[in-house]
Amino acid sequence: MRAEPNPPGSTVQRGLSADYLRALPKAEVHCHLEGCVPPKTAVRLAARHGVTLPAGARDGGDRYRFRNFDEGLEIYLAVCRSIQTAEDFEAVTYESLMTAAEGGLRYREIAFNPQNHPELSYDTMMGGILAGARAAEEEAGVVSRIVVAINRQFGGEAALNLVRDVLAHPHDEVVAIGLDGDEKAARPSEFVAAYDLARAAGLKLTAHAGEHGDSTEMVECLDLLRVDRIDHGYAALLDPALLARTVRSQIPYSACWFIDYPELEVEGRRLDVAAMAAAGLNMCLNSDDPALIGPELHDDFIDAAAHLEWTVEDAEKYALAGIDASFADNATVERLRAEFTAELERLRPGAYSADIQ
Ligand code: ADE
Ligand code: ZN
Repeated sequence: MRAEPNPPGSTVQRGLSADYLRALPKAEVHCHLEGCVPPKTAVRLAARHGVTLPAGARDGGDRYRFRNFDEGLEIYLAVCRSIQTAEDFEAVTYESLMTAAEGGLRYREIAFNPQNHPELSYDTMMGGILAGARAAEEEAGVVSRIVVAINRQFGGEAALNLVRDVLAHPHDEVVAIGLDGDEKAARPSEFVAAYDLARAAGLKLTAHAGEHGDSTEMVECLDLLRVDRIDHGYAALLDPALLARTVRSQIPYSACWFIDYPELEVEGRRLDVAAMAAAGLNMCLNSDDPALIGPELHDDFIDAAAHLEWTVEDAEKYALAGIDASFADNATVERLRAEFTAELERLRPGAYSADIQ
């Protein structure tokens, strides 16, 4: 039976409590490792390795400061340059997962850009990341898998070499390749060979598209790269044929609820995500770059629940959507699904608060 958040005749506006939303087990599939590094950590790493950070990252305050996506990306790349040893990778992976676990995160697919760290070998970096991830799983029970992300700006040939490197150093936790960076830098069609090679080797495929670019980017990702998931994808709202196609196929979209920089209105992004859900897309919520452009996933859940007046069923649906969109092996997905289902049932009686007038 559907719970009634506001019973007829009730004078009290009931909403899901923040404590409940924080405790809710959560899974996300779109979160960049280097976008999880808090400003204080970035300042410390940059000082240790003699890296100059952009002005908006230098003061080590609570937030990075930037006005638009390009400036944010500049900070992101400088943070990448500040992570220079296997131990750095281990520490930032561990720190980011432990922080997110405090807000109920139980599964994360971590996107990691090897090309943004040209001074280190793939295997050295991955060794550090996997050590940090395993320590966080042991201590906090948060499971993670890795998406090796191709940076568009380095082009198709470099992407193919990266995939060759990934295949030469297999790890069970590395489940997919992705495509990120500046959508203006290259079309998805440049990366067909890299995607074909990854697919043939059994890796899953995802790509950022329709975040800043138009829907033709997304169509290329579907038709040429043959992706299993779309990261962001807001441009589908402007393309009725693509929208209908992806509602029909139910390909997962890893959308991001919140984005905090002045040039992209926060409210605009919220409206996009709400419209994607209303259109019937298969969508989960993700933090993307929690230290850079938005808060942790539990903050997204709290904000989305308030704006969209979620019922307990909505919250449960989004808690499970992240697992269903994941590229983890079937046994892991089944185990997480069973654990989430039991936990959701246990939490249900305390879901609503009557505090909101
Ligand atoms: N790299 C890190 N965050 C990104 C984003 N939101 N879009 C594209 N590339 C990114
Ligand atoms: Zn992203």
